[in-house]
Formats: sequence, structure tokens, C-alpha cells
Amino acid sequence: MRDFQFKKNRLLCEGVDLEKIARKEGTPVFVYSRKSLLGRFNEIKDAFKEIDPLVCYSMKANSNLSICRLLVKAGAGLDIVSGGELFRAKKIRVSLNKIVYASVGKTDDEIRDALGSGILFFNVESVAELKRINIIAKSLNRKQKVAIRINPDVDAKTHHYITTATKQNKFGIDIKTTNNIFLSYAKKLKNVDICAIHMHIGSQIETVNPFVQAVKKSVALIDDLNSKGACITHLNIGGGLGIIYKDEKPQTAGQYAKAILPILKNKGLKLILEPGRFIAGNSGVLLTKIIYVKDTHVKRFYIIDAAMNDLLRPSFYKAYHEIIPVKKTKGGKKKSADIVGAVCESGDFLAKQRLLPDNLKQNDILAVMSTGAYGFSMSSNYNSRKRAAEVLVNGKKYQLIRIRESYGDLIRNEIVANV
Ligand code: LLP
Repeated sequence: MRDFQFKKNRLLCEGVDLEKIARKEGTPVFVYSRKSLLGRFNEIKDAFKEIDPLVCYSMKANSNLSICRLLVKAGAGLDIVSGGELFRAKKIRVSLNKIVYASVGKTDDEIRDALGSGILFFNVESVAELKRINIIAKSLNRKQKVAIRINPDVDAKTHHYITTATKQNKFGIDIKTTNNIFLSYAKKLKNVDICAIHMHIGSQIETVNPFVQAVKKSVALIDDLNSKGACITHLNIGGGLGIIYKDEKPQTAGQYAKAILPILKNKGLKLILEPGRFIAGNSGVLLTKIIYVKDTHVKRFYIIDAAMNDLLRPSFYKAYHEIIPVKKTKGGKKKSADIVGAVCESGDFLAKQRLLPDNLKQNDILAVMSTGAYGFSMSSNYNSRKRAAEVLVNGKKYQLIRIRESYGDLIRNEIVANV
């Protein structure tokens, strides 16, 4: 996390002291680095520059309007998965022809809305969906470009909850069925133009091998289909690049491109990428305050004001996030502790058995690292807790990009029935 570094024993984001943000804006608060977000976006775009790819930032990683706007202004398209994400995309004035839309369960309303907006591709995940898009496109007198999301049946060797391209997963269409779609439907369905292949094999993938296997399968399929009269012009290879949370050694953007580019050589395909975590993950931290230090006969707990509703990843995937005090103190031994929230679940923890300075005390601020992706976007109001604030740092300045929720927000849509 290059843009989060200690200077004179204080943790900074770019040029801003994180403790200052925590004291001024309150905690829990997510803090993102503009420089890091743009840097990561450019890293992946530049790695593939010889074929001028379309990089569609995967909004689900972090859909804050300011963050999406920042990336869109830098040239990104967007990968969306719901009507809600399309609504957000429209708010930030992205060129709608840079939007690709995946999801196994697009509803009629969502399809109609996206079709009417003029998105680039639907990434189609079933035959039933393809037929639905065709009917709706017909009713709107449109011909819609679609990509078939294939399930290449490769094991991405990541957490089973975020592996998406084996036969057991709900995502995509197997290669044999994809062939049949071209034989049986490509000509028959007049209002869809099947001109792309999409794949996304999983998330937090640390080696290039699974990507290489899947891209090879996709390209072989495209060659085959084109030789039989199809006209596939685009290949979307999804997201999934892993990042460093602890001591992982994931491929760099350069290594990734170096492995993928030769497979695409002389194929004349327009390449689309959908990175989410790679751009946002290491670009953000979650700041939280210690409410109590609780020593029991067997262990120490730091009870903090963030919880599983703010950051679900540790509870849900047993994910590791580094946790560090924003101020380095001298001396002080290390002591093992569990860092837990106030939610009424034993599964509510941000870290277990973590070595931290034993002189940490009430009111101290901790930074939960690498929480820029799948942090806020997976947060909830469980236990009627207000969702956190968000801040974007730019050099020596920062801006609030989401106000902390109020109690009023919690009940805004509720109606007290006549009971
Ligand atoms: N494209 C599609 C179709 C996807 O389903 C996803 C993520 C992405 C792109 C972006 O993948 P990325 O580059 O971020 O790996 N909540 C989990 C991650 C779920 C990913 C879901 N799909 C986590 O916290 O680890």
C-alpha cells in the first residue's frame, strides 16, 4: 500500500494524517487514496496498451460515486451487475457505451432499462436470459449486442465462495451449450447480436495459470465459432487479479499482460477487462476506535467501533486484513488479541490472535488495511448500526464522499403498521 505510509511515527494517506481524519470525521470511516486508485487503474491499462483495451472497473468492489467518477474521468468503463449499479453509473455520466452488464438474474425491468440506455454488452449467463433480452429488444425496436459468458471450467484456486468458473458454479454457460446457442439461436433471435465472449473465473487469483487456461479456451472457442460463420469481435476476460493482504505474491499487471497478450496475438479481438479489487483493494483503509480493552482469564479483546456490518470479509471468508495503530509508540511489548466489534454474534471479529502493542488503550485509532474493495460495498445495517462515512484523500487535502448514516436513515423506508 504505497500511498499509506508512516512518517514521523504517524500513518498517512498520501499527505494526510489518518488520525486527524478519524478525530475530525469520527469513526468508523473508510479512507481512500485518489493517487492509489488512479495508479492501479493506469497500471492495468498500460500493461495492455499495445492492444488498447477497454478497462471496465467492476463497481461492486466499491461503488461510491466519487470513486467511480474518478476512474471514469481517467478513461474507465464500468462493469455493472444490477439496476442499482446502472443508476449509479448514470449519475456520474459515464459513456453508456462503455458499460458491460453481468448477473445471472437480470429482471425484465433491469434489462429494459439497460437496453434503453444503450449499454455496450449484456454478459448473458443463460439461454433463458438470451431469449428474454431478444424479446425485450424487439419490443423496443432495438438490436442489442451481447456477450455469452462462458464457464470455461477451470479452477481458479481461490476461496470457494469466490470461485466462479467450475461446473458446480451458477455462473456462465458451458462451452458445448455455447456452441449450440450459435447453431440454434444466433440467426433465429433477430434482436440480439452475439458478438462477444465473456469470462470471469473468480476473484483474488494469485497466479496467471488459471487465467491463461481460460483465455486459451475462450480464444479456441472464438476461432471455432468464427470459422463456422459467427462474427465474434470482443473478448472480455473479466477481473479477478489478486492483491497483497498479508504475504501473498500475486502476479503484477505486467506479468498478467505478458502471459495473456501472446494468446491474443493476431486475433484482432477488442479486449475488455473488469478489474475491481486490483484497483480499489489496496487503495483504502478502515479507521476504527478502540472502545474498550477487555482482558479475560484466557485472552485480550480489543472491542472497536467497527464491526462485521462494516467489514464482512473476516467473518464471511475468514479473510485476513492487517490491523495497525495509526501512531507508532516506543517500547511496548506485543500481545496477542482478538479485535472484535459490538455486534451480537461470536462470528463478529475483524482479526483473531493478532500481535499488537500491549499498551494500546481506549480511544486509540486502528487502521484496518486493504479495505478499499468489498469493504463498504458489502456493509449492512445489521444490529441497526449506521453505515460508516467515506473520505477521499487527494495529496494534502481530503473530502468527505459519504456522510455517516443517521438514525433517521435507518428507518426512512419503514411504516409503523396499525397493530
Ligand atoms: N467481473 C465479474 C463478472 C465479477 O463477478 C467480478 C467479481 C469482477 C468482475 C471483479 O472481480 P475482482 O477483480 O474484484 O476480483 N466479495 C468477495 C469478492 C466477490 C467478487 C465477485 N465478483 C470478496 O470480498 O473477496
